[in-house]
Amino acid sequence: MKSIVILISGRGSNMEAIVRANIPGARIAAVISNRADAAGLAFAAARGIHTGVVAHADHCGRDRFDAALRTAVDVHAPDLLVLAGFMRVLGEDFVRRYAGRLLNIHPSLLPAFPGLHTHARALAAGVRVHGATVHFVTPALDGGPIVIQAVVPVLPGDDENRLAARVLAEEHRIYPQAVRWFVEGRLAAEGDGRIAVAGARTAAAPPRHYPPLDED
Ligand code: GAR
Repeated sequence: MKSIVILISGRGSNMEAIVRANIPGARIAAVISNRADAAGLAFAAARGIHTGVVAHADHCGRDRFDAALRTAVDVHAPDLLVLAGFMRVLGEDFVRRYAGRLLNIHPSLLPAFPGLHTHARALAAGVRVHGATVHFVTPALDGGPIVIQAVVPVLPGDDENRLAARVLAEEHRIYPQAVRWFVEGRLAAEGDGRIAVAGARTAAAPPRHYPPLDED
């Protein structure tokens, strides 16, 4: 049985999607937030999952916060640490400690739009497709090896909220899938910064043009 600790900062809908997926061979050992008012904590507690708060406001500086977080996480001896809307940047030592067993979800098609306000920036850039990425975390912000991505169209009349909702629905599909692959031992580093997924199906050809060609 693989032990998983999930870190959240707020709503926790990605955490919820992973919990609801009931991944065979996985046990959600704890959900930890850096904010006591994170709404997702109530869902986890109601499911009988251990919850904890390591408030960044209580720790002076990133090193001390990271140390406190590490202590709270390591109690559960996680095989996998999942960042699910965790909105603090983790220091290099912390990231290296969990190298190869630290996943994050980011609301863009990385390497496009790392950082914050991804949906607004995608709209401002006029991109026709947008999406989300699950990746292993490295010290490079939003820069680690990619596990899976979901693509959504940017539609006429979209605003930030509509686009975010379309992306979030896909996040809830790809994050449990990525965790399942990890638990099944199907993710392998290829040595060149890329991840191979053993036994992954070959995708059917997706639509290639957004908006479609006139003859599509
Ligand atoms: C999600 O859209 C996630 O991709 C994003 O925060 C949201 C959290 O929602 N994460 C980041 O922006 C990380 N840089 P949730 O709390 O409902 O899962």
